Amino acid sequence: MTLTGKRVLLIVAGGIAAYKALELIRLLRGAGCAVTPVLTRAGAEFVTPLSVQTLAENQVYQDLFSLTDEAAIGHIQLSRDADLVVVAPATAHILARLAAGLADDLATTLLLATDKPVLVAPAMNVRMWQHPATMANMTSLRARGVIVVGPDEGEMACHEFGPGRLAEPAAILAAIVSLLAPPSRPLAGYHAIVTSGPTHEPIDPVRYIANRSSGRQGHAVAAALAALGARVTLVSGPVAIADPENVAVRHVETAAEMRAAVLAALPAEIAVCAAAVADWRVARAASEKVKKKPAGPPPSLDLVANPDILAEISTPSPRRPPLVIGFAAETEHLAAHASAKRQRKGCDWIVANDVSAETGIMGGAENAVLLITATGGETWPRMSKREVANKLAARIAEHFAATGRKI
Ligand code: CTP
Repeated sequence: MTLTGKRVLLIVAGGIAAYKALELIRLLRGAGCAVTPVLTRAGAEFVTPLSVQTLAENQVYQDLFSLTDEAAIGHIQLSRDADLVVVAPATAHILARLAAGLADDLATTLLLATDKPVLVAPAMNVRMWQHPATMANMTSLRARGVIVVGPDEGEMACHEFGPGRLAEPAAILAAIVSLLAPPSRPLAGYHAIVTSGPTHEPIDPVRYIANRSSGRQGHAVAAALAALGARVTLVSGPVAIADPENVAVRHVETAAEMRAAVLAALPAEIAVCAAAVADWRVARAASEKVKKKPAGPPPSLDLVANPDILAEISTPSPRRPPLVIGFAAETEHLAAHASAKRQRKGCDWIVANDVSAETGIMGGAENAVLLITATGGETWPRMSKREVANKLAARIAEHFAATGRKI
């Protein structure tokens, strides 16, 4: 569980969205996080202390002047025992008090006394959120390092529309996880080049030779490597999917352009050629649209071989990336053909997949993979292309952890 051993002090302020705090508590507990709940007086008008306490599996604190609470644990202590203080929902009122440094109840006293990071998830009427007073408070809270999640935009309990809805509990949890359990970045300092998608080889200004590659697998590999901290250059043929985040994308059309972009992006420690590069191009693409002739045979296409980008960057040279990975799309004898392709192209690993029509892999969302390395093969069960990408990125990180960087 991602938050095992972590402790969150959760302040639930008064607002119609307070019921969503119960879901947040459930998610935090599910992630292994200890939750100490604090309910403001207004918060207790919306959710009961009993529900909060039951879900948190922990005592709920409400009163600044409770003799028993003070005897057991001082409020300063309460605010310092946590790894993170979360206010969800954070009303305009509690945000204003936090901005002003007021300490007129237990929640605001804890917020003023804490030495831990504070995350707020605002929720209020759209006009209250957009009021210059709230905006000024948010500016000063952000400047002081308070982390703000949301608010979301949408229809509100008061039937108005706009920003003001509490961020979804899952989004608040994700923000908490990224603060308390930041993902490890074993590929930080590495540069990876990834090719993805098809190439388009022009016949004339309107026609081209293409293939069914969607770019999903290559784009997912680029995103997965970036998530592990690598600097990623994605060289993408024409695709209908969005650029992944945190990745430098070079958009190309033809195999020749893809090759030039890959060579220009070197040096790199990792190259993953996932593109379905067209093997041939038309020897001389027409500069004007080829017209139908009323008589005579249809035009024939004179094809020439495209450069093999994978083979070229796998060739031993000082600029060869230490780990070069190719993909093999096969329709029969998967292992034998893919091993032969690894040898022929000179790459280190081949990710082989069976693209025969009945598998639905080409252009689909799933993949079933055989990873072939110098030491043997590994069959991966059928999984989503994103999972294949994550697993491949993790294997790449393991490889460098075991062998060290060889550049
Ligand atoms: N590849 C490449 N440049 C090319 C052709 C292929 O970089 N001009 C790369 C692909 O990105 C993939 C690998 O080579 O990583 C395998 O390509 P594939 O088309 O499956 O294999 P081919 O070598 O074309 O062999 P065959 O058509 O006989 O299966």
